[in-house]
Amino acid sequence: MNRNRNWKVAVVGATGAVGIEMIETLEKRRFPVESLTLLASARSAGKTLPFQGKDISVQELRRDSFQGIDIALFSAGGSISKEYAPIAAQAGCVVIDNSSAFRMDDSVPLVIPEINPEDAKKHKGIIANPNCTTAITLMALYPLHKAFGVTRVIAASYQAVSGTGAKAIEELQRQVRQLAAGETPTREVYPHQIAFNVLPHVDSFLPDGYTKEEMKLQNEGRKIMHHPSLRASITCVRVPVYRAHSVAVSAEFERPVSVEAAREVLSQAPGLDVVDNPAKNEYPLPLVVSGRYNCQVGRIRRDCALDNGLAFWVAGDQLLKGAALNAVQIAELLT
Ligand code: A2P
Repeated sequence: MNRNRNWKVAVVGATGAVGIEMIETLEKRRFPVESLTLLASARSAGKTLPFQGKDISVQELRRDSFQGIDIALFSAGGSISKEYAPIAAQAGCVVIDNSSAFRMDDSVPLVIPEINPEDAKKHKGIIANPNCTTAITLMALYPLHKAFGVTRVIAASYQAVSGTGAKAIEELQRQVRQLAAGETPTREVYPHQIAFNVLPHVDSFLPDGYTKEEMKLQNEGRKIMHHPSLRASITCVRVPVYRAHSVAVSAEFERPVSVEAAREVLSQAPGLDVVDNPAKNEYPLPLVVSGRYNCQVGRIRRDCALDNGLAFWVAGDQLLKGAALNAVQIAELLT
């Protein structure tokens, strides 16, 4: 990294579940920040958030917010990105966008630094950060793909409520309190009670019965891995977990894959720890990976229903590797 210069950085959606993590990750990874501008809606203007021991005031996001900014990390939802990312790019700033607004745009790189860092260099002002479940799955799938050539994937996700945002964290907390007090739980965010339940519904439904979230694994996976023939079918499930997503994956490969060879490949993979000792009840858990930069993979076994198949379980902090950490890692590629 070129430490000779410092960067004027903005975080759009600074008060949100991901925005807060972006600020903390910039500080923890000692990103060379000259100034930090925090942007959110008018509701948050004047609120302060801590950075490097100082309180920084949140400002209302406006069209002229990006004058003089070098790098803007966006996580305020797709419609804000669609409207403001081009304005920021026009003002000469590089946008790293956590929303799905530009991910499949051919002129916008979609980057996981451990997988396709070279794509970031081709940006024209906007770089997209991948979907959280896709990012966590690919941290284990890509090294296996490089070694054995993945052809298709069948998976199910177990996604934490913080992936929906700050309001969903409050909803799970409130419903747990209400149920413990013998009250009827109230709903605002999800169409059904999330406490003590699982919802086979993440994002909106498409005409073919998949949800938008579910198609991201195949579409974004193809783009990030430069693997246009990848086939991936996933059922995305929201679970009453505050933080960290888990994914049960069955993958079929072109070449034979043994458990030993897969374990060897995964143990060398950057950003990934192998936690796989069933005899001691050791496998990746959302409670354990929460707050960690590395994802974890375990339950590695031959898939008995596929040719050259491998089954495994991967978990990762979706606010970090699935969002804020990956965005800051992309920013590091620019410095
Ligand atoms: P605010 O807190 O002022 O509403 P989350 O994903 O946790 O729900 O967070 C969404 C983030 O996007 C928050 O920081 C939120 O700010 C921000 N946001 C939502 N609507 C707007 C808007 N119209 N303009 C700017 N920021 C917005």
